[in-house]
Amino acid sequence: MSTAYILVLYYSRHGATAEMARQIARGIEQGGMEARLRTVPAVSTECEAVAPDIPTEGAPYASLDDLKDCAGLALGSPTRFGNMAAPLKYFLDGTSSLWLTGGLVGKPAAVFTSTASLHGGQETTLLSMLLPLLHHGMLVTGLPYSEPALLETRGGGTPYGASHFAGADGKRSLDEHEITLCRALGKRLAEVAGKLER
Ligand SMILES: Cc1cc2nc3c(=O)[nH]c(=O)nc-3n(C[C@H](O)[C@H](O)[C@H](O)COP(=O)(O)O)c2cc1C
Repeated sequence: MSTAYILVLYYSRHGATAEMARQIARGIEQGGMEARLRTVPAVSTECEAVAPDIPTEGAPYASLDDLKDCAGLALGSPTRFGNMAAPLKYFLDGTSSLWLTGGLVGKPAAVFTSTASLHGGQETTLLSMLLPLLHHGMLVTGLPYSEPALLETRGGGTPYGASHFAGADGKRSLDEHEITLCRALGKRLAEVAGKLER
């Protein structure tokens, strides 16, 4: 039997959301669980366009089995017009078979996002990602205000999930508070999943 793992499933075009995913994975490991990092391919208006099976760099592409067998899920996307990015939505739109079988019911989930502007839709994006997860019957684990960084942050960080302000040029790195909150989210998710697994 394989070890229980938390799936960290994300899309990232320029790397900011991917860096958040790695910090959340560290938090998951601090919480005593394995983290499995997976991404999704870009989508194209060219219907016939196909991506190679293996990305040229970074995390492998997620399969439905990665999702079906996880003990919990951290879902991340860049903000696109206040919403999750189409490639991640496209992947989620392909999860009807899991919905039909109730494969994700009762599993814990958390969300994260990166934006170019500080007030450019982090919270709406996080909520947009929670909607399909609630339809799947997942249990939402946000970030509690017992995390001091949530009140001290000058960048990202919300009770709905972790967030990062990457700046207009996308070059602003994760700051100390954003890293703390990414790790706290991962740790909390792992701890909840561990309790539910028992
Ligand atoms: C089509 C598109 C729409 C975007 N919409 C927003 C937005 O609504 N608010 C915002 O702050 N940033 C917006 N951005 C910027 C990205 O959210 C930001 O650059 C993010 O950090 C990219 O993450 P990544 O490095 O993981 O790709 C948009 C970018 C694109 C390409």
